[in-house]
Formats: sequence, structure tokens, C-alpha cells
Amino acid sequence: MYNDIEQIWISKEDLSKRIKEIALELDEEYKGKNPLMICILRGAVMFFADLIREMKIPLEIDFMSISSYGAGVNSTGEVKLVKDLDTKLAGRDVIIVEDIIDTGYTLQYLKKNLNTRNPNSIKTCCLLDKPSRREVETYPDFKGFEIENQFVVGYGLDFDQNYRNLPEIGILKPSVYQEEK
Ligand code: IMP
Ligand code: MG
Repeated sequence: MYNDIEQIWISKEDLSKRIKEIALELDEEYKGKNPLMICILRGAVMFFADLIREMKIPLEIDFMSISSYGAGVNSTGEVKLVKDLDTKLAGRDVIIVEDIIDTGYTLQYLKKNLNTRNPNSIKTCCLLDKPSRREVETYPDFKGFEIENQFVVGYGLDFDQNYRNLPEIGILKPSVYQEEK
């Protein structure tokens, strides 16, 4: 797996340190509110699991699966709901937890979709943000790191469903996606 990685971009230590800081921010903001934290499958799974374990306030979790990508590295702009939530959102304080915001289409879709279900509030928390790639005006309320226009994998993020189990975030060698298996 590491043979395909050009460079480790964010180490385990840096991930863990930043996630503790975000957890503190969320604990403050949602004190006494029992928020519903929504993990967007599959990319956010590691971030979500680590983040909720650092939070000290009572909270609930649910999962939703969205697909916006084909097999390549460029978004199609087309977002599809693959698995819906089991929890009703009416009156809830919802936190959408995503791996990365790239063009912004996924987050825009999610906010619009969940807003029709009458939650009390919706905020978004993303591990990574690539602002230079944005095509629609949408920004996370909480975020881990801003990154350049580079395709990253690991810590839940994939290329063609691979590399999700890499414990850190790395930059894929361009030769890997230029080959297009
Ligand atoms: P958006 O709709 O273009 O904002 O795309 C968001 C989704 O694209 C994320 O949830 C990821 O699944 C995927 N994505 C965007 N950039 C990367 C990347 O650098 N590595 C892996 N997946 C990415
Ligand atoms: Mg994703």
C-alpha cells in the first residue's frame, strides 16, 4: 500500500491532536443538547469514530451513505442517496460529519436534503477542506485541515475503494490514478 503513496501529508499524531480540539469545540457548542451526529459513509468512518470518542457530552449517532464519485479522481457533480438515516430529524440538532469537501456538491445536497426534515439546527464538520476546488458556495462550520488541490487517501478516504485502512493521510502517486486500473 505504501508503495503507491508519494508522501504522508497528515500523521497519526497530527490527526489525533486536531480531532481532540474539534471535539472540545463541539462539546462547548452542544452542551445540554444531545446532538445527532451523522456519519457520511464510507469516507468519514475513521474520523467519526475517533471524534465521537473524544466528545464528553451525551450524543446519538446515525449513518447515511452518499455517492458522488465514479471510480476516478474527479467528481461527476451527481450526488446519489445510497442509504438513508433510521432516525427522525424533527427538532434535533444535527451535525453532519464528512471526510472532505471538494467541489461542495455532496455537502450542498446533504444540507438541502436534511433541512426538509425539520431539524432544529444543522451544522457540518469536515476533516478536510479543499477550498480551491469549490464549485458551489458551501463551507463547513467545523473543520480539521485545509489542503491544497491534491488527491489524498487514507484514514477512511479512498481511491477506487482502496487505501481506506491507511492510518494516516497520504498523497497518492499520480502514476497510480493515471494508470486507471
Ligand atoms: P464533493 O461533492 O466534490 O465536495 O466531493 C466530496 C466527496 O468526494 C468526499 O466525500 C470524498 O468521498 C470524495 N473526495 C474528494 N476529494 C477526495 C480526495 O482527495 N481523496 C479521496 N476522496 C475525495
Ligand atoms: Mg465521501
